[in-house]
Amino acid sequence: MVNISLGELEHAGLAAAHRAADLLKIGFYSEIDVKIKSHKHDIVTQFDKKSEELIVSVIKDFFPHHGFVGEELGIMGSTTKNIYWIIDPIDGTWNFARQIPSFAISIAACFDGMTHLGICLDPISGELFIARRGGGATMNGKALHVSQTGQLEDAGISFGTSVGVNAIHEIALIRRSGSSVLDLCYVAKGALEGFINHNLHVWDFAAAKLIVEEAGGVVTTFDGKPVSLDTGHRHTLIASNRILHEELIRWISTANP
Ligand code: IPD
Ligand code: CA
Ligand code: CA
Repeated sequence: MVNISLGELEHAGLAAAHRAADLLKIGFYSEIDVKIKSHKHDIVTQFDKKSEELIVSVIKDFFPHHGFVGEELGIMGSTTKNIYWIIDPIDGTWNFARQIPSFAISIAACFDGMTHLGICLDPISGELFIARRGGGATMNGKALHVSQTGQLEDAGISFGTSVGVNAIHEIALIRRSGSSVLDLCYVAKGALEGFINHNLHVWDFAAAKLIVEEAGGVVTTFDGKPVSLDTGHRHTLIASNRILHEELIRWISTANP
């Protein structure tokens, strides 16, 4: 099915990510129009849609027959028979709308039910994370490796679920940027040891999950099972530096709400 190389996919994905970053860098300091989606913390700005339209149009110039799953535009074309792309045009929209510079563009190229290329770009810091399946992960061209910390009390964890919310503070340091994409990339670069979140859409992790795995980390559901790219439901996710993974799964399974 796939006679396109990961290098060609990366070339297209990077072109799209950089165009979207240029748009968002201007948008970040301009008048931002905020609309509520499902509830008051679930918001969208004019730049979410513009960014996704731009990403899709750039990738379509390279690959007119590919399908897309995006947060703002939904499903376009086939997501089963060919390569398709999973896009979060701004992860961390709440931050973006408040001019808090922690948000990211996430672009994943997928086939056979898996991500094969993941690109996450923080437009403000310029940190660019890329992973190819089987080819390692980089940040701004430098190889990424997860942290070697083996003690939970020395760990920094991004924590975003109500399960165990009171108890987690007693066992680890909690750090949360407001962008799941960035927090997963921080696990990949060894800045955090873990990430625990629920209610996630597939575009929140499709690219960053591969970046964690290619940096030597592990990503599973709360039950320790593989995480699918199923768009039909919300996902639970535990990502870690591998060493702490079993401990985090055990901890979340015994933690009280
Ligand atoms: C949100 C962020 C946030 C996570 C939410 C996501 P959005 O994405 O990743 O960290 O906790 O579940 O919906 O809406 O800013 O793209
Ligand atoms: Ca988003
Ligand atoms: Ca998101």
